[in-house]
Amino acid sequence: MEKTTSESSVQLEDFLNSHFSVRQFTYEPIDDEIVRRIIKMARRAPTSSNLQMCSILTVRDSERKAKLSALSGSQSHIEKADVFFVFLADLHPLHTLCEDRGFPFHGDHVEPFILSTVDAALCAGRALTAAQALGLGGVLVGGIRNEPEAVSKLLGLPDYCYAVCGMSLGWPTKAGALKPRIPDYGLHHQETYDPELFREAVADYDATIAATGLYANRNYPLPDTADAQAAKSRNYGWSEHSARRIADGSPGALRVSLRPFLEKIGFELK
Ligand SMILES: Cc1cc2nc3c(=O)[nH]c(=O)nc-3n(C[C@H](O)[C@H](O)[C@H](O)COP(=O)(O)O)c2cc1C
Repeated sequence: MEKTTSESSVQLEDFLNSHFSVRQFTYEPIDDEIVRRIIKMARRAPTSSNLQMCSILTVRDSERKAKLSALSGSQSHIEKADVFFVFLADLHPLHTLCEDRGFPFHGDHVEPFILSTVDAALCAGRALTAAQALGLGGVLVGGIRNEPEAVSKLLGLPDYCYAVCGMSLGWPTKAGALKPRIPDYGLHHQETYDPELFREAVADYDATIAATGLYANRNYPLPDTADAQAAKSRNYGWSEHSARRIADGSPGALRVSLRPFLEKIGFELK
């Protein structure tokens, strides 16, 4: 393998550092051949024990995309995207193999749930990168887990198979902007974990984000139990927004229908 200073590796590094999500697409269609190339690259992702527990479902039918959009919190980019991928954590094929052989099947434990979910996430991330390499733009869609039962029915999913995330894909209408990340030093530990690094980094990050105006008009509701006066004295930036977001205990934010649904289809998380 070539050393890391070749021109192509520098180009690849620049490319990987240029990721941004795209939610606005032109009406230009995506050739089937391009879809095949993306699937091939996505499925090259590493997979636990080569068990290949991710299936990918491509949706191009307008009516089905409209229904998926409605089920995912009315995200209009799903309808506008020429292609919508669904990344499935899928133990159904392995269940079939065990069934055919009369073997026991342990897909009802936490570990196989994690294995298949990680496989699906790795495929999804790689599919987005692959699509971007071909000039397309896209965004992953966790909203697909808002109504798991209805999504499963719409897509005809079997037991031991659930939609981890979707991906809207199309030709971007315009150049997008990079969303800054928390500085690496706050979330990259050396040898052992140091929680203080995050405190420092997030202060830097809030200042960076304030300059972009990214969170300026967002005002996520305060939790009921919060001290409203104290909250007023804080700047509303990434840290305030994200703390409020993760403090939201509403059934929608926590997607409480997921657990009973997963249990019903065999992921009992024992
Ligand atoms: C698993 C996952 C689910 C996501 N779900 C949604 C979604 O439902 N809707 C959406 O607009 N963006 C979604 N996103 C995109 C994130 O909001 C986006 O990646 C993040 O804000 C960082 O922005 P960037 O990708 O432009 O750097 C999702 C991202 C991931 C990784």
